[in-house]
Amino acid sequence: MNQDDLKRRAASAALQEIERDLTPHAIIGVGTGSTVNFFIDLLADCRERFGAAVSSSNASTKLLKERDIRVMETISVKRAAVYVDGADEVDPSCALIKGGGGALTQEKIVASISDRFICIVDQSKLVERLGDFPLPIEVVPSAQRAVADAMVTLGGEPRIRSGLTDNGNVIIDVHGLAIDDPDEMERNLNNFAGVVTVGIFAVHRPHLVLVAEQDGTIAQRYPN
Ligand code: A5P
Repeated sequence: MNQDDLKRRAASAALQEIERDLTPHAIIGVGTGSTVNFFIDLLADCRERFGAAVSSSNASTKLLKERDIRVMETISVKRAAVYVDGADEVDPSCALIKGGGGALTQEKIVASISDRFICIVDQSKLVERLGDFPLPIEVVPSAQRAVADAMVTLGGEPRIRSGLTDNGNVIIDVHGLAIDDPDEMERNLNNFAGVVTVGIFAVHRPHLVLVAEQDGTIAQRYPN
């Protein structure tokens, strides 16, 4: 089974999992990335069964609209029933690294206004400890040097990503950080002046992680 097959299976498992959330007024939170793109395709077939989607990026908004799925602005959404999104790394406690696609801020916002967060990954995303994947941190442009320097003092190797986020900010990818305590690291990095969003999702851990395994099964992981 290739990686796209696994991503498709994870997306399909998410659709089954949110079956009970598909009610006429429900708002469904939609993440960003190649795994979620499969989910968006499946969601299009159910577009009559829920009220609207709330999206975590311009890219996902475009895909949703192309599939005639109504998209609400985040600012006008009080609560979403469920949020479905991928991840770059998942540790045994279900803490995540996200932001490989640069949408981490809006992803964290939509996760925070959703009653349930379901993360969909293939087994290649499972790790014992977060940090092999460079940690994305979104910062306001004027703070990029200060934050990058601070990451060096923490033992990381910061690299400024080219281009700007949907919010007009800069992403610093921090290589080589050993993230033994994701909750503590997320809190700590959030305190640096100019940091908008840290790509660690520990405060907003998913309620459920659906893992597409190579043998065709879907494993379920819950935060401990
Ligand atoms: C987007 O900013 C990310 O958080 C994605 O959720 C993450 O990179 C997973 O993407 P894939 O499903 O493409 O691996």
